Amino acid sequence: MATKKTKQAVSDKSVDALTEKDAKTELTRLALLLAKHDALYAEARPEISDADYDALFQRSKAIEERFPHLVGADSPSLKVGAKAAERFEKVRHARPMLSLDNAFSEEDIAEFLARIRRFLNLGADEVLEITAEPKIDGLSASLRYENGTLIVGATRGDGTEGENVTANLKTVEGVPHDFKGKDAPAVFEVRGEVYFPADRFGALNERQLAAGKEPYANPRNAAAGSLRQLDASITASRKLKFFAYAWGETSSVPADTQFGVVNKLARWGFTTNPLMRVVAGLTEIMAYYREVEGLRADLGYDIDGVVYKVNRLDWQQRLGFVSRSPRWAIAHKFPAQKATTELLDIDIQVGRTGVLTPVAKLKPVTVGGVVVSNATLHNADEIERKDVRIGDTVILQRAGDVIPQILGIVAEKRPKGTAKFAFPTVCPACGSHAVREEGEVATRCTGGLVCPAQRSERIKHFVSRNAFDIEGLGAKHIDAFLADGMIETPADIFHLEERYGSGEKAIAAREGWGPQSAGKLFEAITARRKIALPRFIYALGIRHVGETTAKQLARAYGTAEAFVAGMKAVAAKDEAAVAELDAIDQIGDTVAEAVGDFFAEEHNLEQVGRLLRLLDIEEAEKPASESPVAGKTVVFTGSLEKMTRNEAKARAESLGAKVSGSVSAKTDLVVAGPGAGSKLKEAEKHGVQVIDEDAWLKLIEGL
Ligand code: IVH
Repeated sequence: MATKKTKQAVSDKSVDALTEKDAKTELTRLALLLAKHDALYAEARPEISDADYDALFQRSKAIEERFPHLVGADSPSLKVGAKAAERFEKVRHARPMLSLDNAFSEEDIAEFLARIRRFLNLGADEVLEITAEPKIDGLSASLRYENGTLIVGATRGDGTEGENVTANLKTVEGVPHDFKGKDAPAVFEVRGEVYFPADRFGALNERQLAAGKEPYANPRNAAAGSLRQLDASITASRKLKFFAYAWGETSSVPADTQFGVVNKLARWGFTTNPLMRVVAGLTEIMAYYREVEGLRADLGYDIDGVVYKVNRLDWQQRLGFVSRSPRWAIAHKFPAQKATTELLDIDIQVGRTGVLTPVAKLKPVTVGGVVVSNATLHNADEIERKDVRIGDTVILQRAGDVIPQILGIVAEKRPKGTAKFAFPTVCPACGSHAVREEGEVATRCTGGLVCPAQRSERIKHFVSRNAFDIEGLGAKHIDAFLADGMIETPADIFHLEERYGSGEKAIAAREGWGPQSAGKLFEAITARRKIALPRFIYALGIRHVGETTAKQLARAYGTAEAFVAGMKAVAAKDEAAVAELDAIDQIGDTVAEAVGDFFAEEHNLEQVGRLLRLLDIEEAEKPASESPVAGKTVVFTGSLEKMTRNEAKARAESLGAKVSGSVSAKTDLVVAGPGAGSKLKEAEKHGVQVIDEDAWLKLIEGL
């Protein structure tokens, strides 16, 4: 019998079986997947269990350990994922919190009703009562009351286990701390939706932006973000609201219909939705659907459909569940909201990292209750693909998110004489040239050091720990100094003392500062006038030039002057200079192009020149050729007692060794301290020489 050989998908292969190409693909896939699940988790609606998430994360880490050079800046292992921050205690729901099946058409609803009738074997004259109510676009929560007192409030989580956010839920309008009533059951879990009122959404995002925080994409995210605050007073300030619409565990059910129980909840003091109604038959259901759709824009909260539930609880009981959704309920979703309007202009915005983003300026139009006058066009390719031109009539869609998408244009409405949009080749914020790297969709400004749009990020990078490491100059101070025009570029930092050391505008006189803290800051700045070359190169914030590359460049060129002269020649496309750069270990075309772009920019050269005049940049240590570890790959593992891991790494590198994070057949030497584990085993497996910390120090003694 012939056996069919099927190719194994990359995602099924064990980490050991991956080729480097596979590993690259798989890391990208995992990073995207983890980012998606982080976002879902942050919105309190995870789609996978913690264990499944951890398995993805561990796989990503294992691949990175095998291929350390593939660890990118956006690696999930470098981020504190939403998941990593296990901040709230877990709560297991006494009854799982279910989800609803979706219906999109009248036929789907007819089928829903017919299925129920078949299942219950209802006669043709038997009335099937259905409750109909809006489907609130928020996040569900469960409130457990014992003897009328709120004991635990939890998010839905993955449906089985949520987070204990009791203190936060207590601040939500419509969540009673106690409920009274002669007929209140001893145990009653109320379930419903926490939502963010639409009229306050714009103001919240303005405050977020003013505080330097990311705005929320939509009211649902705002509700989730507000409910999951560690500080309940922040939740309280957000003024969330709650609609009760269902229940979990109960010691007794206070009515025999869905409508009856919900009315009881209202009597006990919960807020229930005033639009909830009992209907029967497809015609009434569809009339209700259209009515609510018509009210949608003016409700004051986002809804994304209506929910139908079988009214009789004994019938609900008989109907039961299919996997995680009840057979007795369904969500009838509204179509995404669309509108057409005129494209007045295309603005180019420069982000904090220098990416140029085209933004459509629209004739204001209402889409689903929100007035829209801007929409992102993402990038040059997107404009090209959709052939969007100024003057066109565009079709907009708002699908839950406040930022709408441009679906396309209405070709028949294109006015005469429009021209294709020419994407700018210079940055609108600073006039530096804007480039698009091969294989990239983004166009970026190259004027990193001078571009006002990137200023704040660049200066923060410049003073950061692995760059100039200026203590006392935090992100907040930088933003304040920038706002007051005290600094514009990194070089200005070194003029702070002479300009603002005394007098009316003295830093010491600013709020939050005093003579002592200002003095300390000036001291810290002065101390950094003398700086190591790798730090200086890294601090420039050239794209693709991270710490390792900066070190390699420093070692190869030796002095700042030689480095700058070399890079200028590279920018001028001098062949010998390009060849010299290419010859440096691990430096490829991407880095070469990025440094070329940076040094081709007049504004950057001027800044670098200013810095060279202000600073005393130390010569880089040349790799000692007599060093026994030059050119060797060394791995440090376990705990070191006489030096920190960073120190050990820096010292080894200055002696010409390559320091790696994982052991392979290519490793020459493993330096193992107490507690070394798997790496030691790997070393044995590959027959790599292992020495302890003292032996290492002896080896490099006197060098
Ligand atoms: S009933 C057993 N009613 O929709 C059924 N859910 O897609 C429990 N939702 O997780 C849900 N408004 O967060 C129900 N009026 C409403 C709802 C509603 C919004 C949400 C809820 C649920 C999701 C299911």
